[in-house]
Amino acid sequence: MKKTLLIALSLGASVIATSTMATTIDPEKDRQQFVDYFKAKNPSIAPDEYINGAYIYSADKMAQWEAAEEFPPYLDAIDEGEALYNKDLAVYEQCFGSDVSKIRVKYPYFDETAKQVVTLEGAINKCRTDAGLKPYDWKKGPIAQISAYLAYNARGQKINVKIESDAARAAYQAGRDFFIKPRGQFNLSCAKCHVDNSGRNARSNTLSAALGHTTHFPVFRAKWQNLGTLHRRYVGCQKNIRAKPFEAQSEPYRNLEFFQAYTSNGLEINGPGYRE
Ligand code: HEC
Repeated sequence: MKKTLLIALSLGASVIATSTMATTIDPEKDRQQFVDYFKAKNPSIAPDEYINGAYIYSADKMAQWEAAEEFPPYLDAIDEGEALYNKDLAVYEQCFGSDVSKIRVKYPYFDETAKQVVTLEGAINKCRTDAGLKPYDWKKGPIAQISAYLAYNARGQKINVKIESDAARAAYQAGRDFFIKPRGQFNLSCAKCHVDNSGRNARSNTLSAALGHTTHFPVFRAKWQNLGTLHRRYVGCQKNIRAKPFEAQSEPYRNLEFFQAYTSNGLEINGPGYRE
């Protein structure tokens, strides 16, 4: 079972590479296969638990994490996000409507007109620049705080990414190819660490499963001592394997997020989260 998923995923990738249409990929089948793979690998862990990252693999770590989440270090950041949001409330209401609990769950989505993936952070900055406001930096600071405020208000809702066109399927597939392709000086793929070796230790870290990777972002990391977005994490993982990272919110990362979010469909939004 362990090998089957990657083989299936990479087979799909090579089939696509030689064909022009993205119709051979079935995202829903992929997602189901993802869930089944992790179920088979760790029968005692329910799919819903994957939203808690690597902590699910150790009772001790889980207890420490739960203690940290009782008085989480990201509470101030949520307040700051709320204040920032309310400062430009009229602008944001034009873009997102007046119910802050209904925003996070809409992202990421595939914009059928612009033919590209739109992330929550991308939409926040676009909303700002369209209204003549300055965009925020992508990886931390105000954008992460606003994202945290919106995630917090959406807690408990379920990831629900839709793929309804060939163009959307192609974006999903690009993200999926990115996820599978080995790269960097160590020639490692995201899948190698977060699928194949999930639950195992890499130096002092336990590797999380890719399932549920997007549910809890933005994340307050002890290592950062502040909040960071999902793309900040992507940059970090690419640097760790000595691969040249892409820019946060670049097309490859937006497609990667789209793939990761789709394969986490049905899991609860639980951001912002605390991580080591
Ligand atoms: C050498 C192994 C390795 C590779 C390759 C790797 N990562 Fe990671 N990644 C880690 C480690 C270690 C952590 C921190 C422990 C954890 O949460 O998994 C991490 C954390 C993450 C997290 C945060 C998980 C959480 O619960 O908050 C995400 C998301 C992530 N990686 C995505 C990726 C993506 C996407 C790629 C491919 C571009 C990638 N990683 C490649 C080792 C790796």
